[in-house]
Amino acid sequence: MLAIAGGYFSYRADVERAEAALREAVAVAEENTIKVLDTHQLVAARIDDLLAPLSDDEIRNQEQLLHEKLGQQISGEPQIAAAWAIDAAGHELVSARVYPVDRSMDQSQRDDFRALRNSAVPIFIWALRARDLVRDVYQPYFTVTRRRQSPKGEFRGIAVVSVSGAYLASFYRSLLQNSNDYTARVFREDGAELARYPAAEDGAVQLEHDSTIAAALADKSPGGMIVDGPDFGGLGHLTAYKQVDDYPVYVAITRTRASIFQEWFGSMTRYIAIGTPAALGLMVLCLVALHRTRREQTALAHARDAIAQRATAESRLHQAQKMEALGQLSAGIAHDFNNLLTVILGNVAMLRLRLGGQDVQVDEFLASAVSGCERASQLTSRLLSFSRNEPLNPQPANVNEVIGGMSDILSRSLGKDVAYEILPSPKVWLVFADKNQLENSILNLALNARDAMFGQGLLVIQIANRSLAEDTALQNLCIPAGDYVVISVTDTGCGMSVKVRDKAFEPFYTTKEAGKGTGLGLSQVAGFAASSGGTCIIESALGQGTTVVIYLPRFPEEASSADSNETQTSSGDALVR
Ligand SMILES: Nc1ncnc2c1ncn2[C@@H]1O[C@H](COP(=O)(O)OP(=O)(O)OP(=O)(O)O)[C@@H](O)[C@H]1O
Ligand SMILES: [Mg+2]
Repeated sequence: MLAIAGGYFSYRADVERAEAALREAVAVAEENTIKVLDTHQLVAARIDDLLAPLSDDEIRNQEQLLHEKLGQQISGEPQIAAAWAIDAAGHELVSARVYPVDRSMDQSQRDDFRALRNSAVPIFIWALRARDLVRDVYQPYFTVTRRRQSPKGEFRGIAVVSVSGAYLASFYRSLLQNSNDYTARVFREDGAELARYPAAEDGAVQLEHDSTIAAALADKSPGGMIVDGPDFGGLGHLTAYKQVDDYPVYVAITRTRASIFQEWFGSMTRYIAIGTPAALGLMVLCLVALHRTRREQTALAHARDAIAQRATAESRLHQAQKMEALGQLSAGIAHDFNNLLTVILGNVAMLRLRLGGQDVQVDEFLASAVSGCERASQLTSRLLSFSRNEPLNPQPANVNEVIGGMSDILSRSLGKDVAYEILPSPKVWLVFADKNQLENSILNLALNARDAMFGQGLLVIQIANRSLAEDTALQNLCIPAGDYVVISVTDTGCGMSVKVRDKAFEPFYTTKEAGKGTGLGLSQVAGFAASSGGTCIIESALGQGTTVVIYLPRFPEEASSADSNETQTSSGDALVR
């Protein structure tokens, strides 16, 4: 589209240049034609001057002498075909080229004779085709004819200087450098042609009348440009024309639009020939540059990803080290605390032996001391499970079955307004884990969900098999690549802020009011997943619910018998309360 518009504008510019060149050429042609007409008018004036003092009879008597004198007048002007004088009756008096003249021939019907006899204008330019006596062909001629008159202004005849049209044509030939794309013409103001280059091919005897020029000249314009043919393409012409000084004569130079079109077409072809490979080269360069930039961008993005992953891994490591330290600390405390509880429980047992059954109130005090010790013992057990120091009893387990068997406890713990769904995986892989710890984990997550949903909402537990590729496993989860059973526990609760999510796994971190939460629920889940060789992550945003995902590695003994193509599965028989 751009190329077409560019081509059109370049053609318009070529046409404008051609018009300017034509105007210049026509100005030069006018200058020259003025000189030609002035020169021949002068010759006619000299003839008139020579004959003026003599009567017609005297002229006839001295014809030979005058013939020679006239011959001298035009001797240096080969373009002058003839120069002669005619008397008031239309008969030839004397000629520069012919002696004696044929006086019998009546020339009173000539255009120039009639024009000058009937009006007082001094000069008449006449166009004609006449026989070239030497070559015996008709040639274009023009005459510069002067009115001969008495001092009182009476008509005495005419002095005629006849010039060969070929003389003007030769000048135009050199002006137009022999080109066939141009035509130069000299017109009288009525459109009759005085000279033309190149000469008319048919050698026609009739003088031509150019209707286009005649129409343009009708309004007596001193010059202008005639444009014919359609705006674009090789049809039509451009013609610049100009009046020759004050003479009733015009010069016109015409150029064919075909030649402008061809010139334009040639340069366009050259541009295309040179421009196309250049444009293609540029395009290739651009593509290479684009490709390189894209590669660099990809590399940059990879580098950024790598930096981000490294930062994540570092923060995970940092978190893991913190948990480890906390684990060791809490394990130490839990052990000492357990020992102390054992001592307290032992002593309470001794007191029961001595004082039991004597006083009801004492019995109540003792019972309450025992239950307090039991609750404290549960707490230490949770602490130990987080610190992974609690003895685990791992065994091959079917997660579908373990979680499916928790319907009762889930119903009771969640309350009547929280619905839940269990979506087991149809061909779930076995895991190697402590079933009690797994149940504990699910229960902890369910209780958290209940609290987050303020006792109302939907809890979904989905079980699926998933094979983790190297990049996902290591980069996002910091666990080895391989097959995992994935348990996702999703609620429609309040969700967590980023700050809460980052701290939620820390032991004793709770947002619940004092006495309502210990902050050990999620630490237990994380401790269980880690000690089973897996991991646990939280996906949550404030106001958008929470999903806690536990990854447990597939039990290797069973790996071969399972369907290795199966990856994540979310369908299956849902256990819905
Ligand atoms: N499903 C959840 N939705 C929104 N926030 C949660 C969810 N689970 C945990 N949290 C946030 O994480 C904190 C830590 O949870 P965690 O289970 O470790 O302790 P807790 O529930 O506060 O106490 P505990 O479990 O010992 O009764 C919670 O206090 C709560 O702010
Ligand atoms: Mg909890």
